[in-house]
Amino acid sequence: MAKVLVTGAAGFLGSHLVDSLLADGHQVVGVDNFATGNNRNLVHLDGSDGFDFVEQDICDGLDRLANLKFEQIFHLASPASPPQYLAMPLETMHVNTAATEMLLQYASKNGARLLFASTSEVYGDPHEHPQSESYWGNVNPIGPRSVYDEAKRFGETLVSHYQRNKLADAVIIRIFNTYGPRMDPDDGRVVSSFIRDGIKGRPFQVFGDGKQTRSFCYVSDLIRGIRAAMDSKITGPVNLGNPNEFTLLELAAQIGKVLEIDPDLEFKELPVDDPKQRQPDISYAKSALNWEPTVQLTEGLQETASWMKTLLN
Ligand SMILES: NC(=O)c1ccc[n+]([C@@H]2O[C@H](COP(=O)([O-])OP(=O)(O)OC[C@H]3O[C@@H](n4cnc5c(N)ncnc54)[C@H](O)[C@@H]3O)[C@@H](O)[C@H]2O)c1
Repeated sequence: MAKVLVTGAAGFLGSHLVDSLLADGHQVVGVDNFATGNNRNLVHLDGSDGFDFVEQDICDGLDRLANLKFEQIFHLASPASPPQYLAMPLETMHVNTAATEMLLQYASKNGARLLFASTSEVYGDPHEHPQSESYWGNVNPIGPRSVYDEAKRFGETLVSHYQRNKLADAVIIRIFNTYGPRMDPDDGRVVSSFIRDGIKGRPFQVFGDGKQTRSFCYVSDLIRGIRAAMDSKITGPVNLGNPNEFTLLELAAQIGKVLEIDPDLEFKELPVDDPKQRQPDISYAKSALNWEPTVQLTEGLQETASWMKTLLN
């Protein structure tokens, strides 16, 4: 059993990852400063064996954990939704770059393996469809979204420098849109916003004409992929996401069905640099990790909606 550090442990993905690691008997330390995470995601672990939580900004270093020797580090800490990273631009840049390098140095000194949670946003508004790992992307380096997109890209550059020079064992994963219970209902992401508004009887706000496409991966599938990437020897980058593609209008209709409502749609202006299409090519994850998603959108939406109903009511 490994000693594992999870940064961003109080977040949506981090908390599910902690649950999965503990279920397999690993000893886990979670770090989070609650920038976008929430204590309710970890409260079920109070007093549980094998889990310790440290509230701190990971950019402040690992001095408080100096007596522990981690074998695996999952670096997930970062605001992830556009409204959140736009509200915390410098924090987002620092946690994906300076903190990534600090953790790479730790991995280098202590022989740990590091997983860097990158994103499909490194492909920007893509000219290739679907996106495979060999595509370099189409990102505006000075647009508002660059505080996230370019920070993740530079995080990847740091990891690849350490890999290329054999300074650290690390893997880059590129996560595509993932949804499920414990998403912050107010994080501004499309699945959480539609479900929240549906439960509250409000219209769904659709940006643009709603014909832009996204692919949505259920959280349990993604966590399996994250664990497989860490437990493999690959360096990545490896795409992790669900290749089934839906327009936002189709998503709105599916959520309406799950909530048994006929939602009104309110069309809004498309945000700057919003990608028109997003679909992962997961051939590499299939061959290298023997991984592919299995949860269908309706099934995942049902789980998510029933969790959010309990939370909001
Ligand atoms: N959910 C997705 O669809 C998705 C897609 C692509 C990439 N990702 C990446 O996966 C990771 C997790 O995303 P999520 O959806 O769980 O988001 P989230 O906002 O729910 O979780 C991120 C967590 O990191 C914490 N955090 C942020 N800055 C920190 C800092 N400086 N020190 C300590 N903790 C800090 C937040 O408080 C939060 O708990 C992020 O790196 C994100 O960029 C997620």
